[in-house]
Amino acid sequence: NQQKIKSICCIGAGYVGGPTMAVMAQRNPDIKVTVVDLNKQRIADWNDADLSKLPIFEPGLDQVVEEARGRNLFFSTEVDQAIQEAEMIFISVNTPTKTYGKGKGMAADLKYIELCARQIAEVATTDKIIVEKSTLPVKTAQAIKSILDHTGNGVKFQILSNPEFLAEGTAMTDLANPDRVLIGGEQTLEGKKAIQALVDVYATWVAKSQILTTNIWSSELSKLVANAFLAQRVSSINAISELCEATEANVEEVAKAIGMDSRIGPKFLKASVGFGGSCFQKDILNLVYIAKSLGLNQVADYWEQVILMNNHQRNRFANNIVSTLYNTVSGKKIAFLGWAFKKDTNDTRESAAIYVADRLMDERAQITVYDPKVTATQMQGDINYLNTRSESENKQYLETETDPYKALEGAHAIAVLTEWDEFKTYNWQTIYNNMSKPAFVFDGRNVLDKVELEKIGFIVQSIGK
Ligand code: NAD
Ligand code: UGA
Repeated sequence: NQQKIKSICCIGAGYVGGPTMAVMAQRNPDIKVTVVDLNKQRIADWNDADLSKLPIFEPGLDQVVEEARGRNLFFSTEVDQAIQEAEMIFISVNTPTKTYGKGKGMAADLKYIELCARQIAEVATTDKIIVEKSTLPVKTAQAIKSILDHTGNGVKFQILSNPEFLAEGTAMTDLANPDRVLIGGEQTLEGKKAIQALVDVYATWVAKSQILTTNIWSSELSKLVANAFLAQRVSSINAISELCEATEANVEEVAKAIGMDSRIGPKFLKASVGFGGSCFQKDILNLVYIAKSLGLNQVADYWEQVILMNNHQRNRFANNIVSTLYNTVSGKKIAFLGWAFKKDTNDTRESAAIYVADRLMDERAQITVYDPKVTATQMQGDINYLNTRSESENKQYLETETDPYKALEGAHAIAVLTEWDEFKTYNWQTIYNNMSKPAFVFDGRNVLDKVELEKIGFIVQSIGK
């Protein structure tokens, strides 16, 4: 007797919960999918008739929401009701790095996860399958199970791990066409039935061969390991970029040369000002913490280097701007192109731009930022969050422009922090004419045409060449 899921609830309407459930609902018109969140504004934005007001910018997301919303996709703040109705509940809440107590600065903060488990236990009056969608330390399912079994109403819970591998900016294509879907569960008869129920939900659009089922601990751990390996590639190529700069090798040529080895592969070898995003740093720190907790100090040190290298790359970029501008940027206008942690997203979490700005503001540079998708409020919030100086000082040193040409006018230097495509299409001659001379460009993403810019008269510094 195979269970066919008819009703799904997802707790957490964020970057993962929103797009993931939108696609799940789109591909399963006969399943009712309700995404709930405590954040009333976020839910209101998901329900806004004007699709440009969705709380997350992802290319293609608006069309999928338009197709499914109100049909079988719903966004709501009625958490209890959605839990009660659902046969399957995804937990997709945030799992940030702890900022207090034991494991501060490293371990994942599981308080939101635990709150969800307790709320489900309190409300549920029928059996449920609970799906961990958030990225969690290995063995979290044990804690969730213990809470559910000890505080519930005697109903049965099965816990699955189904980590999400989408990347921001390409979330919709990643979801429509995933490299794999990973589902971990208990290796008992009941556990296998639950796994099968979730496999069936995905199988409406993902080939069975791409749906991988494992034991629950392998699934939880694989998510942390996947992010650690991806980030490790970026730190590895960034380490080589510094070596290239010292030897006249070109990091793009090196990346191409090694990437053509099918064992290495060409992807994720772009040298940059450093990786950002909400997850790489958080998940590696979490992995390092788990290894340390288990007494595996060499394992912990090995992975920690990925973070240290990333911090070094960001600092190196900022320090190079200062030293190139004759060792003083005090009172000089430095214009940033880009603030988001990568192109095609409005997400700024852990963006390298924040740390580079902070370092330059320490040197009293006057920063003006243009980003096509990030608001001034968001940028101020990001800088204030670092707590380096007062909010009024931050306001004084960090400005925002909504017109790129205005942002660049009169600047002593331009720093490219995000690889937005539109930067390539600007009229660089006009920009040059309106800048202070000598006009410097620091291309932290290697997106601009160095030769063309040098022809115009710019002094250009790229990463690793
Ligand atoms: P997010 O902060 O964008 O969204 C989380 C949402 O959960 C918030 O809107 C918050 O209000 C809500 N929430 C928290 N506690 C709640 C509760 N008790 N009840 C109802 N709502 C609650 O986070 P995100 O980026 O979507 O990430 C969620 C998880 O997915 C994290 O574990 C993250 O590591 C993982 N992940 C993220 C990405 C990504 O690209 N952002 C990719 C893969 C995995
Ligand atoms: C990453 C992973 O790619 C996803 O598989 C994962 O699901 C997600 O983390 C997560 O768990 O949150 P995301 O952070 O959205 O996705 O974006 P990426 O494309 O991985 O980029 C991360 C950072 O690395 C960006 O700042 C990007 O600019 C940088 N990067 C990436 C490089 O500097 N060079 C590269 O070659 C690739």
